[in-house]
Amino acid sequence: MLQRIQPAARIEGLLSLPGDKSISHRYAMLAAIAEGQTRIHNYSTGADCASTLGCLRTLGVAVDRDITEVAINGRGLDGLLPPAETLDAGNSGSTIRMLSGILAAQRFESRIAGDDSLSRRPMQRIIQPLEAMGASIAARDGRFPPLEIHPARLHAIDYALPVSSAQVKTCVLFAGLFAEGVTVVREPARTRDHTEIALREFGADLDTRARVISLHGRPRLHALDVTVPGDLSSAAFFLVAALLLPGSHIVIEGVGLNPTRSELLDFLIAMGADLHVRNLALHAGEPVGDIEVRHSPIRGGVIEKDLTAALIDEIPVLAILGAASDQGLTVRDASELRIKETDRIATVADNLARMGVTVEVFPDGLRVPGRQKFRPAELDSFGDHRIAMAFAVAALAAPGESTIAGAEAAAVSFPEFFALLEGLRA
Ligand code: S3P
Repeated sequence: MLQRIQPAARIEGLLSLPGDKSISHRYAMLAAIAEGQTRIHNYSTGADCASTLGCLRTLGVAVDRDITEVAINGRGLDGLLPPAETLDAGNSGSTIRMLSGILAAQRFESRIAGDDSLSRRPMQRIIQPLEAMGASIAARDGRFPPLEIHPARLHAIDYALPVSSAQVKTCVLFAGLFAEGVTVVREPARTRDHTEIALREFGADLDTRARVISLHGRPRLHALDVTVPGDLSSAAFFLVAALLLPGSHIVIEGVGLNPTRSELLDFLIAMGADLHVRNLALHAGEPVGDIEVRHSPIRGGVIEKDLTAALIDEIPVLAILGAASDQGLTVRDASELRIKETDRIATVADNLARMGVTVEVFPDGLRVPGRQKFRPAELDSFGDHRIAMAFAVAALAAPGESTIAGAEAAAVSFPEFFALLEGLRA
């Protein structure tokens, strides 16, 4: 799909967003192995979270869905059924990596696969700890999907993550649910902790301190009635659009503000953003609030070290803000970006160049000098949802029509994105 984007003078309005993708995946998977019926409200509308529900159905889980309302009849820790077909994770790294932790502990064979992009993403990072727990997994070339997961009985491990990855952390913790004893995961840098919060809410026995998580195996998980907060990573596109376009003013209600995600807001404020959070509340252990932002001049800055891990999904759209900032934006320690849905260092740089924006590329990041203007351009999502949405925002600031090829990729996390963006034009 070719999406045409006209320039916007400014954006204005009040909006609320579909449920957080990360939290939706975790609630669905834990609901499937809990006892009783879990009700999830504001479930993510993205294709990725639909892939998770599809996989759960293939594992014998009754899932009832009415758009954002999802009811899951949990089958208990030992109740999943052997799948009659290959589990389809679609484009979703979270689905394949996190669900594999559960699949590796089953008494049956399973096979899980995905689309072309997912089939190129590294799985060694989950295979290695799962095998250390006693799992038996075959992968294409030893590293890529599809994964063939053989029956196994897992034992607890003490595992230091070699990469900062919430997906890998979650995979090991989910596997640890099925192992006797205490599974310990040590993180090199703090990553999103939705898994730890959700595990506790579902009734697991978990201890977390100083980036060390200890989980007691074989808990009885109970069903929940939960509401997924709005997705802060989706909010990021609107926040940047408002900061880019003079006179903009928006309020986004009910957004997830977990501190492992909200460093985005601290970073924007540190760069000069006129941004306020109101009506803070806690929903099932997750902080939620409203974000108000007005256009403001942005200084620019550096994203490196632990901050890179905290902002990893927002870097594409922040690179765009960097071009319009006073001093520009430098991103380092971001080689993980090269193995996302696309090589996001390359796809950001390619589209920025199409818009006439100068960018310097490093193996582990990029530098976008400030005070640059965006030219209208023929852009490409390269099949990556965050690239499609980030460049739709950049296109608003260009003085003429731009097009984005493959814009349908946005539906992987945020099918409503283009309609909501259009609705904010003032
Ligand atoms: C996610 C973790 C991150 C992030 C992804 C969602 C999660 O991936 O990029 O969009 O829900 O745990 P990594 O674990 O590969 O860093």
